[in-house]
Amino acid sequence: MTAPAPYSRISELPSHAGETVRVRGWVTHLRSSGKVAFVVLRDGTGLLQAVLVKSSVSPETWTRFGQLTQETSIEVEGEVRPDARAPGGFELAVNGLSIYGESPIDYPIQPKEHGIDFLLDNRHFWLRTPRQRAIARVRSEVEQAIRDFFYERDFTLVDTPILTSASGERSGLFSTEYFEEGTAYLAQTGQLYGEAAAAAFGKIYCFGPTFRAEKSKTRRHLSEFWMVEPEVAFNDSEDNMRLQEEFVSYIVARVLERRQPELKELERDLSKLESIKAPFPRVNYSDAVEILQSKGSSVTWGDDLGAEDEAILVQDQDRPVFIYNYPKQAKAFYMKENPDDPRTVLCDDLLAPEGYGEIIGGSEREDDHDKLLARIEAENLPVEAYNWYLDLRKYGTFVHSGFGLGLERTVAWISGIHHIRESIAFPRTMHRLKP
Ligand code: 4AD
Ligand code: MG
Repeated sequence: MTAPAPYSRISELPSHAGETVRVRGWVTHLRSSGKVAFVVLRDGTGLLQAVLVKSSVSPETWTRFGQLTQETSIEVEGEVRPDARAPGGFELAVNGLSIYGESPIDYPIQPKEHGIDFLLDNRHFWLRTPRQRAIARVRSEVEQAIRDFFYERDFTLVDTPILTSASGERSGLFSTEYFEEGTAYLAQTGQLYGEAAAAAFGKIYCFGPTFRAEKSKTRRHLSEFWMVEPEVAFNDSEDNMRLQEEFVSYIVARVLERRQPELKELERDLSKLESIKAPFPRVNYSDAVEILQSKGSSVTWGDDLGAEDEAILVQDQDRPVFIYNYPKQAKAFYMKENPDDPRTVLCDDLLAPEGYGEIIGGSEREDDHDKLLARIEAENLPVEAYNWYLDLRKYGTFVHSGFGLGLERTVAWISGIHHIRESIAFPRTMHRLKP
């Protein structure tokens, strides 16, 4: 008996030209002339056209072809042949076909227009479609770029807890009972823990899911999203912005370098990504308010900026824009008071071009114990929950800063998709907990 032919993934077929291999995957298209039949299958690495000639396969194999439907999982065996017209440049001359799992003809996703709610209800299948796969691959590349960027710069990865005892940001909190300890909150940010770790390692980052009970139903809010948060000892707010522009430029360059097929599938305008190079423009918050007012916005000094304001500020810009030093009242308690204008704090929001809005929020942290305590009290936060955080200002306080980049917003921007719910495999929004 001869050994069975080796398995190959579709992307690896060019290196097996002329050989007999087995390929496993799911049926995407079927076509037959009665004498010659074509099965296009997908294995996650590409598409393969498998050709069956009735006169040269067994009657059982030919019959099995007739049982195939969209999404049937199968194995095909045959010779890898170059074919300029086939997807990937190779086809498989089939001599064997086995069915792993049949797929009834009522498979929900059909080649026609489906409404967004239907697609989201069928997210477990929608993920199999080319556009969704392209977005997921861009996301995977962005995550790898994030890890590489910090690894290359000698940051230590510190994983921070998801179950926490106190709020980190102003947005809504998810809570759950925690044994005898009272209420636990799902982390809105890993930052406060990152600050503690920065005093231990100098440069750290955390990267994980964060949770916000956002009642807003916008195209840029999820209730569960991923955030990467570096924190650097002895970096001030200026250093912080420089790190951000270097970081964002690195991520975009990486996607351009390695994800061309996906960007093509997404019909992304590459020129909009190729211009993303540091340095990025910087606009002081007070100047931003004047610009906005001159363009008809009703914003007044002291307000946080809304989505429409953010869109105005990036108009005509070919790269992200920093808006820096917001009013204290618009931002979180931990931001450092600006010594030159104590009404404001040393912080920045980085706004993506093309109206994608804020992708990063960052700041220098208040390193003065008494000022920080006063802010915690002024915000009516429970001081006892922040004692450990205040301690960082008591025992060797230090200038430090950091930021949080929202992964889904970044992926949506780079992919050029309208709504961030497509940039995560299984989105969690106000009205969606399934699948
Ligand atoms: O501006 P935010 O709230 O900043 C922080 O959480 C800081 N603790 C970060 C830090 O300094 N370490 O959130 C940071 C980013 C936003 O710019 C946005 O990209 C994303 O997180 N983000 C969301 N993404 C999706 N859905 C939501 N509901 C989001 N809220 C924030
Ligand atoms: Mg923010």
